[in-house]
Amino acid sequence: METRRIGIIMNGVTGRMGTNQHLERSISAIIQQGGIKVSNDLVLMPDPILTGRNENKLKALAEKYGPPAIGKPYAYTTDVQGALDSKYGDYEIFFDASGTLQRAPFVEMAVAAGKAIYCEKPTAVETKEAVRLAKVVEKAGLKNGVVQDKLWLPGFRKLKMLQELGFFGKILSVRGEFGYWVFSGMDYDQPAQRPSWNYRAEDGGGMMIDMFCHWRYVLDNVFGPVERVVAYGNTDIDERRDEDGKPYAATADDSAYAIFLLQGGLVAQFNSSWCTRVRRDDLLTVQVDGEKGSAVAGLREVWVQGAAETPKPVWNPDIEQPINFYDGWQKVPNNIAYENAFKIQWEEFLRHVALDEPWRYSLMEGAKGVQLAELGMQSWKESKWMDVPELS
Ligand SMILES: NC(=O)c1ccc[n+]([C@@H]2O[C@H](COP(=O)([O-])OP(=O)(O)OC[C@H]3O[C@@H](n4cnc5c(N)ncnc54)[C@H](O)[C@@H]3O)[C@@H](O)[C@H]2O)c1
Repeated sequence: METRRIGIIMNGVTGRMGTNQHLERSISAIIQQGGIKVSNDLVLMPDPILTGRNENKLKALAEKYGPPAIGKPYAYTTDVQGALDSKYGDYEIFFDASGTLQRAPFVEMAVAAGKAIYCEKPTAVETKEAVRLAKVVEKAGLKNGVVQDKLWLPGFRKLKMLQELGFFGKILSVRGEFGYWVFSGMDYDQPAQRPSWNYRAEDGGGMMIDMFCHWRYVLDNVFGPVERVVAYGNTDIDERRDEDGKPYAATADDSAYAIFLLQGGLVAQFNSSWCTRVRRDDLLTVQVDGEKGSAVAGLREVWVQGAAETPKPVWNPDIEQPINFYDGWQKVPNNIAYENAFKIQWEEFLRHVALDEPWRYSLMEGAKGVQLAELGMQSWKESKWMDVPELS
């Protein structure tokens, strides 16, 4: 049995996503499961080096996550350029989960060093920049990818299964409700729970740039290409407290309302808000209504109601509602084990890099998400429908 080592420079790994989803639940989990078993003869084994600005934070992460996986702390350094120059060993992949506005300079450093590139979304806050970056990487002939994790959520996978089974018949509409209450930090004993840059447009924050990237690849891949968008955003809460407890002006949209028209005329409508309290099945629910049946997907679970089980309500506000509408739905069983979505995408990317397996989640695909966000912002500012042109 051959074990092929794949060196990965993990940059910006001290952040929320870098630590939790990428280091702990993806790369460390893959190492702990014994690598990716490709065949009886070959295992791919990731070998990370952690990079970032703060040596103490890197050391703490290396010492926490290294020993359970490799029996010693992970390698780490604040010298990103040195890691790219093979000063600390050979690493063939550069991964970036730093802040959105830091992405391009890091990716360009990695391109110059000839690394395969994988990074968080969004790749930029403007389409022009996202496309430029994708082209720089393509021109250098480097393998590349962007995180599109939601595609591997059990909820969306089950929706895809239902579609392939023909459960819906003709799909009539898609409706997404996303969000929860993100505390502003202004109230006594109610600290803020997300990084403050998310609420400052000047630092790359904003609901549309954050979430429309996700809605783009979910819609494109599960329901059909997005062709038009109309959107409205708002800054519902304009003052929040940052990580140091200091008040700051929240300048970014923290709620966004959009209608997307997909190829063939299917309508998808998404409400996204950091200022809403949850009374639904999950933090994201997507309802798909079809002629023959409907489904409501949460992150993991999906509930279905077929045409034959659809109740016939009567509008009468003068009496108690006689139907419990939740009763007429069935939960789709978990017939397979669903792994962490980020980890699955990481495994596909590692196989793409090591074995040349097909891969479609490139930086150019990621740029489409930035494009939808930018067109959403433009639609909001100009109060009009926007066409979504092909990127070139
Ligand atoms: N796929 C998803 O579902 C998802 C979810 C949340 C965030 N994200 C994306 O992941 C990225 C990180 O978000 P986060 O929530 O982890 O933010 P975060 O603020 O927790 O982490 C940002 C990281 O970047 C580092 N950083 C900031 N400025 C830097 C600089 N100048 N040089 C080097 N490093 C720098 C920080 O130290 C930190 O490690 C963002 O682009 C965000 O859009 C993706």
